[in-house]
This record gives sequence, structure tokens and C-alpha cells, in this order.
Amino acid sequence: MKILLAGGAGYIGSHTAVSLLGKGHEVVVVDNYDNSSPESIKRVEQLTGKSVALYEADVKDKVRVLKIMQKEQPDCIIHFAGLKAVGESVQQPIRYYRNNIDTTLTLLECMEQTGCKEIVFSSSATVYGSENPSPCHEGMPKGSCTNPYGWTKSMMEQILQDASVADKELSVVLLRYFNPIGAHESGRIGEDPQGIPNNLMPYVSQVAVGKREKLTIFGGDYDTPDGTCLRDYIHVMDLAEGHVSAVEFCAHHHGTEIINLGTGQPYSVLDIVNTFQKVNDVKVPYEIGPRRAGDLPAVYSDAHKAERVLGWKAKRNLADMCRDSWNWQKNNPNGYKR
Ligand code: NAD
Ligand code: WQD
Repeated sequence: MKILLAGGAGYIGSHTAVSLLGKGHEVVVVDNYDNSSPESIKRVEQLTGKSVALYEADVKDKVRVLKIMQKEQPDCIIHFAGLKAVGESVQQPIRYYRNNIDTTLTLLECMEQTGCKEIVFSSSATVYGSENPSPCHEGMPKGSCTNPYGWTKSMMEQILQDASVADKELSVVLLRYFNPIGAHESGRIGEDPQGIPNNLMPYVSQVAVGKREKLTIFGGDYDTPDGTCLRDYIHVMDLAEGHVSAVEFCAHHHGTEIINLGTGQPYSVLDIVNTFQKVNDVKVPYEIGPRRAGDLPAVYSDAHKAERVLGWKAKRNLADMCRDSWNWQKNNPNGYKR
């Protein structure tokens, strides 16, 4: 199949490109490099020995996207193109709503005009909101999001679902990711956050490599086994392989299917720090600080549906995630910037 990855030069998109190419699919990437660089795709090509059709374009630009889709005629789209920083979305809600909603509408309109009927969407565990207790399963009603980023995901899910009600030939898979971490085993591609990382694993890696002095653990007094928050961390290569299964499922399906991509196994912040130190034999100095606004004590998935519907299950463990995150960080201390 030919798959168009909107936002495919980013962290999850570049890893998914490797998995798709490895399975013999063709890959087209459209990205405006708002949070990435073409270097990631260059490395994907080196790793796989295959070429990627790469377009620098804003996915909100309907004229450009339509031309690309008319030329490439993809069988399926994976929509990764989005802004994803939770704190920034509180400061810049309009930019977040404009970018995330508009990219989705543009892709749907271009699909309508070119006859492409399959779309896989990067959604998030954040749509379960604070009302749903973990483990979160796909049958739960969506909850109230605590920030504009989360609301964009919730709204985009609704838009895609409505589109599939109106067009019975449309096949939509909404993938709700939990906490992706890790990197490709080669250490050649990985997560490359701009500025101070918001997420735990890139922060831990930057402390370990000496770029930051110490990690602040946000809260040590939660009602959890060690007092720190529990999350469902998933290796990005497992996530990438989940996309390959979703794309293949999408081709034989109509309507909307919601699927969690997680491991179902919660780990605490201290589990991450301790495992990272142990498997990599490095020090991660840390202190326990105040709680971060909006954090929930425990968020993890019920991962059974993915196994049942997609035949996919995460294979890599926490040690693999910590080892591969470090392998990427130590080999690329400045990310894709040399
Ligand atoms: P990322 O920022 O590395 O990748 C997103 C890519 O989209 C970037 O390459 C960026 O340049 C591109 N992009 C953004 N707006 C664009 C536009 N208008 N036109 C063209 N390209 C555009 O993020 P990621 O971690 O790879 O996440 C991919 C998707 O998965 C995002 O939609 C994100 O919200 C979602 N998601 C991520 C996580 C996570 O923790 N990483 C969790 C749940 C969901
Ligand atoms: C994980 C844990 C923090 C940084 C976010 C988004 C979510 C999804 C994934 C996109 C929490 C703790 C973190 C630090 C810490 N993204 N932490 N010190 O908040 O679970 O989810 O990314 O959809 O929508 O909200 O991930 O990596 O920020 O935090 O103690 O410096 O690590 O409190 O318990 P989170 P995270």
C-alpha cells in the first residue's frame, strides 16, 4: 500500500515510516518542520535502504495538499500533523485549535476530492479526561480535557467519526496513544524536543547526558505505591508497528474504530528513573518537587482491544525503552542538530 504520513518527519511518524517501509509499503511524508527536520527522513532512508517521497508543506494548505494527493494517490493517510505541547496549548489556544483542527479538515476535504477512503489518526489517552478510572477502555465515554491540546484531540475524533457516518465508504481508525518513549534500536532516529522538554523521558535523558542539572519529579505524595504518578509507557517501535497493523486493518473496514495503543502495564516516575539508571549505568540526579497542575495520579490502558482487533501487542519492556532512549540521546546529544 502507499501511505501518506502527514507530520511524518516527527518523532512517531519517522519511526512509523521505518516500520511501514520494512513491511514493503510505500511512504509519502508531508511536513512543514514546525517541530522536526528533514534529517529524520534522511536517516529513515539510510536505515531502511528505501526512499521516501518527502514534501515540505503545511497540511493546512489545501491547494498544496490536494496537488500532492492527486500526484501520489495514497491508499491511506496517517494524520500525525499536530502541535502537542500541553502547556503551550494553554498559552496559545487559538494557534492549537487552528493548526490541529484545520489540518484534519483539510485532509478530509482532500480525501473527499481524491477518493482516498482510509485514515488513521493520532489521538491520545488525554481524551479519557479525569472522569474515567484506569485502566481506560475504548467503551468509556470521553471525558473533560484539562487543556486546549486535549480538546483538539477530542474534537478531531468527533469530526472524523461524523465524516465516517456521512460517508459509509470511509474507514477511520482513532489510535489513542498512551505515553510513547524510546527510540529506534539503531540510535539513529528518536525524539528531538525543542528547548526544555515537557515530557518525562526526554528530560531524564538530558539530565543523564549532562545537559540539565537534575530532574524534578512532580509530586511524591500521590496515592500510588511509591507516591509518584503512574503512566502506561510504550516503546515507540511497538507504537510504530501498531500503525502498520492499523493501516492494514483500515483497508478492510468501514466506519470508525477506536483503539488504545498502550501496554496496559503502569509504571511510576521513580520506576522510570531507577530503571534508566540501572540499565544504562548512568546517574539521574533528581528531587521531589510540587505536583504539576493537571496531572492525574494514574493513567493506563486496557490494551486488549488492539490485540483482538489488530492482532497487535506491545513486545518491548521498560528496560528496552530506557536503553533505546539513552542510546539515541548519547549518540545525538543535540538531536538532529549536529
Ligand atoms: P512531533 O511534534 O514530533 O510530530 C508532529 C509532526 O507534525 C512534526 O513533524 C511537525 O512538524 C508536524 N506538523 C505540525 N503541524 C503541521 C502542519 N500544519 N503541517 C505539516 N506538518 C505539521 O510529535 P509526535 O510525538 O510525533 O506526535 C505525533 C502525533 O501524535 C501528534 O498529533 C500528537 O499530538 C500525537 N500524540 C503524541 C503523543 C506523544 O506523547 N508523543 C501522545 C499522544 C498523541
Ligand atoms: C509523565 C509523568 C509527570 C516531567 C503527556 C500529555 C498527554 C500525552 C503524553 C499527547 C507525569 C512526570 C514529567 C518532569 C515529572 N501527549 N514528570 N517531571 O503528562 O502523562 O502525558 O504526554 O497526547 O496528552 O499530557 O506525560 O511525560 O509529561 O509526564 O515528574 O520533568 O512524569 O508528572 O507523572 P503525561 P509526561
